[in-house]
Amino acid sequence: MAKLIDSAIASLDGYVADADGAFDWSAPDEEVHAFVNDLEREVGTYLLGRRMYEVMVAWETIDDESPVARDFAELWRAADKIVYSRTLEAVASARTRIERAFEPEAIGRMKASAARDIGVGGSELAGQALKAGLVDELHLFLTPFVVGGGKPALPDHLRLELELLDERRFANGTVHLHYRT
Ligand SMILES: NC(=O)c1ccc[n+]([C@@H]2O[C@H](COP(=O)([O-])OP(=O)(O)OC[C@H]3O[C@@H](n4cnc5c(N)ncnc54)[C@H](OP(=O)(O)O)[C@@H]3O)[C@@H](O)[C@H]2O)c1
Repeated sequence: MAKLIDSAIASLDGYVADADGAFDWSAPDEEVHAFVNDLEREVGTYLLGRRMYEVMVAWETIDDESPVARDFAELWRAADKIVYSRTLEAVASARTRIERAFEPEAIGRMKASAARDIGVGGSELAGQALKAGLVDELHLFLTPFVVGGGKPALPDHLRLELELLDERRFANGTVHLHYRT
């Protein structure tokens, strides 16, 4: 049985993008990025909200960056991607298909049959997976910024008791929290 894993980089007050839609303050440095890469190595398929996909698809064509960025780009290109969208007409990456609706039963079947773990990204989409009880593990990277509002990493009206599996602090002030739901 594959795990469904929700990972997000957020401000200390829990936003993945600020009120202007910016998230440059969340960019991981080399140390954090290398750690993220090692987590992503276990993931065979990404479920992505359309907004997250539109940001992440840049990794399809990025090259001549640092070794850690190149490593991430290779992980991205090797993974299967399912983009959830009612509006997107075409994808701009290989190994990618569009789904028009998020169906919890289909995700449950995917978890039962997948050989490798499944990642979910984009807080609106991940929020639906959390509310449906499909998420097995949550990785939150809290950065040392308070942005005062924006797009929350976790959905409203969700109550969940979590078990802390691991934590880590990074030199740039980011804290990683790894929970099992
Ligand atoms: N903090 C970071 O490290 C980081 C990194 C990358 C991006 N970001 C930012 O994080 C934010 C994520 O935004 P988000 O939470 O709004 O986006 P999201 O979950 O990535 O995407 C939302 C979109 O996904 C589609 N969708 C959601 N539920 C669906 C369903 N049940 N059926 C079909 N389609 C569905 C819809 O696309 P359609 O409108 O096409 O129907 C919806 O507008 C963005 O602002 C992004 O720029 C942050």
